[in-house]
Amino acid sequence: MRRRAKTPRRKDADVKVDMTVNGTPESHEVEARTLLVNYLRDTLGLTGTNIGCDTTSCGACTVLLNGQSVKSCTVLAAQAAGDDVTTIEGLAHEDGRMHPVQQAFQECHGLQCGYCTPGMVMAITSLLSENPEPTEEEVRVGLEGNFCRCTGYHNIVASALMASRVPEMHQ
Ligand code: FES
Ligand code: FES
Repeated sequence: MRRRAKTPRRKDADVKVDMTVNGTPESHEVEARTLLVNYLRDTLGLTGTNIGCDTTSCGACTVLLNGQSVKSCTVLAAQAAGDDVTTIEGLAHEDGRMHPVQQAFQECHGLQCGYCTPGMVMAITSLLSENPEPTEEEVRVGLEGNFCRCTGYHNIVASALMASRVPEMHQ
């Protein structure tokens, strides 16, 4: 039997995407189907944003889009055109001091393997910007979209509550 020649896969058209990432203007041609997480990791080399699932459920890929947390595997890079993106690499202060949420993770031992940590830190940063004095219950509910397979969440929640008490988070 003669084999049918394979139809070559059509390459998606490239689109030009302009956005600001961690305060730096970026402009690149990417395939239209490129996810924001892949753009950040593969095009910009910002590999602090992790990929932990292919079902948009784990939250390892969480970044801030115009200050609000989003799972960057659920957003096309093209959809973020013109937007302001912050990744874990852009969270610390310019002088190198850690952001209060990062500091709290260190002090409360909020991580073990660290895989979920960038997403957790970004999600908590967004949560505290919307609700600066959350209860423990509100933190737990706010982190429902972020999975940790190591810590049992106790120290992550403690980190969020510690960060919420830092004056800088209330400015
Ligand atoms: Fe985005 Fe899991 S990699 S939610
Ligand atoms: Fe390992 Fe959260 S610290 S997955």
